Amino acid sequence: MKATSDDSISAPGGKSSGARGPSALCQLLGVSQPVIQGGMVWCTNAALVTAVGRAGGLGTLGSGSMYPEELRAEIASVQEAFDGRFAVNVPLLYPAAEQHMQTIVDAGVPVVITSAGSPKKWTSFLKEHGVTVLHVISSAVFAEKSQAAGVDAVIAEGFEAGGHNGREETTTLCLVPEVVAAVDVPVVAAGGISCGRSMMAAMALGAAGVQMGSRFVATQECPAHDKFKAHVLAAQAGATKLRLKSVTPVRMLDNVSGGFSHLVAEAEARSAGVEELREILGKGRAKQGMRGGDLLEGELEIGQVSARLHDIPSAGEVVRDVVAEFEQVRAALASPSFHW
Ligand SMILES: Cc1cc2nc3c(=O)[nH]c(=O)nc-3n(C[C@H](O)[C@H](O)[C@H](O)COP(=O)(O)O)c2cc1C
Repeated sequence: MKATSDDSISAPGGKSSGARGPSALCQLLGVSQPVIQGGMVWCTNAALVTAVGRAGGLGTLGSGSMYPEELRAEIASVQEAFDGRFAVNVPLLYPAAEQHMQTIVDAGVPVVITSAGSPKKWTSFLKEHGVTVLHVISSAVFAEKSQAAGVDAVIAEGFEAGGHNGREETTTLCLVPEVVAAVDVPVVAAGGISCGRSMMAAMALGAAGVQMGSRFVATQECPAHDKFKAHVLAAQAGATKLRLKSVTPVRMLDNVSGGFSHLVAEAEARSAGVEELREILGKGRAKQGMRGGDLLEGELEIGQVSARLHDIPSAGEVVRDVVAEFEQVRAALASPSFHW
């Protein structure tokens, strides 16, 4: 797809201008396609990020599950393999966030996607070092605060998304136009997007681009365990739920019967307190499940769109197929046969 300078779409009430359409986003990120592979704990590495970047999208290392030396090594591997732009995601509540920020600026990482915390503290530091900053939000109010903090773009992530999620439970379809109307910076849509059709829907709502997570878990390069990937492909509608809302809301995939998600569901059904839920969650379950392939005891994070995933392509194919289908749908919608 070739983005043009006047290609933004205004959502009702939106403050749209060409300055924040897909071409503006591509220029901001230094990529040719407005497609971002989101940061994901235990599910990203240099191979995935490089493959996405080579296909024209923005690959992102998820630093939320990396020790500082690990992040340094993964950044170096990306830079060795690929001379294009890429991002690092930093969940701001992560204990190593401060060390990660220093690693990022020392290594000259061009784009940072912050999430899970206030963008106030780090945005100016990153921008002073020439880093482009995007922040993930789940409401128009947080989008306005992010814009006030100086971010270059926001990622509006809806309730469908895999991983940690907003308490508001606003779906992508409702969230994106609200955020587009609230801010002037480019808005990237995330949550429930896996193909050109869903990308088109997001762009019709005023998004300048899309961020996908779950779709990239089910790829050849993703370092998640094969058992987790197979479990994702087997997921049916309704197999993911937003759980642990009183602790940290997270969309999880049901474990095999009797497993971790069932313990959480049973505890939540009897209104267990935060302490008990924290105890059930314990430590290390996300690694155990997604990297270790423990489908009984591990925490398995994935989005609702898992019910639509049926194959394990390469990450480059994902980017190319999504963009190609987007173009087909765009042509079909513009054809006279679509009118009534
Ligand atoms: C396994 C998994 C782990 C994730 N971990 C993170 C994370 O560490 N930081 C973050 O900002 N978002 C995280 N996300 C969210 C993704 O970056 C992305 O916004 C989301 O997956 C988009 O929704 P989708 O799953 O419907 O594509 C995670 C998502 C998944 C599926």
